[in-house]
Amino acid sequence: MATVDTNFNYETIKIEREGKGEGITWLVLNRPDKRNAMSPQLHADCDDALFQLATDPETRVLILTGAGEAYCAGQDLRLFFRGTDNAPRQRFEAAQNSHSWRWSRLSRFPKTTIAMVNGFCFGGAFTHLIACDLAIAADEAIFGLSEVNWGIIPGGVVSWNVTQVMNHRDAMYYSMTGDPFDGKVAARTGLVNFSVPKASLREETLKLAQKMSAKNPATVRFTKEGIRAVRDMTESQAADYLAAKSDALRFHDKEGGREVAMKQFLDEKVFRPGLGNYIREEAKA
Ligand code: COA
Repeated sequence: MATVDTNFNYETIKIEREGKGEGITWLVLNRPDKRNAMSPQLHADCDDALFQLATDPETRVLILTGAGEAYCAGQDLRLFFRGTDNAPRQRFEAAQNSHSWRWSRLSRFPKTTIAMVNGFCFGGAFTHLIACDLAIAADEAIFGLSEVNWGIIPGGVVSWNVTQVMNHRDAMYYSMTGDPFDGKVAARTGLVNFSVPKASLREETLKLAQKMSAKNPATVRFTKEGIRAVRDMTESQAADYLAAKSDALRFHDKEGGREVAMKQFLDEKVFRPGLGNYIREEAKA
């Protein structure tokens, strides 16, 4: 059961906590009557919330989702586009915030991020969907690179984003036709990890969040940073970077996971690394 955290007061989003001490925080886009379309205010709210939550000790996993029937219907055509067409300063500010939270802050968020796609997901929403480390969709969710349908290209960095997760044919097909597709297709294209019936979406998302929340946070952070960073490197750069990253992890890992786990496997024989996580003192407490 999630409860709204009233320390975080925003006009267009809600911050909710799952249970007590679970380390799971929900960031809910909360303009359901507008299908959670992204207004300039929503961009400012998300940008601030992600900045605060990055160092929030109660957040070990962040789940991004939408209120009501939609995940997010993309940029708000009225408020983001038409509303700032003749207001360069407001357009600049909205565009800066829009890029900052959807890509910079989210793709570099120091804890696990999961997108839970509960319904409509269009256009600019693909950026924050892809910025999340993991993504689960309802089978019934409707996705669309709808830009071509109304005379624009998948801008911001949407075109760049889709090429990171979708194969070339799917990226071409769905961006050129603008055809909508469901959660099962989204999973097949690599846009989400998997899809489940809408009735079990929340439960399955929470299971994944709980699994990630129980892991060593330093190892999770360094792992996700490593995977993202090496994509743009040559093999020799990656090898050098990963060697340094491994050493840095041993400095940052306050619970010394590597040594604890080796002792549990090799000496105490109480766990098998191939089959699950080592026994963490924190998790036992
Ligand atoms: N920008 C601004 N307003 C939006 C919006 C968007 N991206 N998406 C939905 N809304 C608003 C509608 O204008 C409507 O407002 P109103 O009640 O004041 O008239 C309200 O949200 C509900 O939308 P409606 O179209 O009636 O709901 P629906 O459930 O029948 O359809 C969608 C939902 C998402 C399929 C449809 O609203 C849509 O196509 N939206 C645009 C999606 C898109 O192409 N986004 C990409 C932008 S880059």
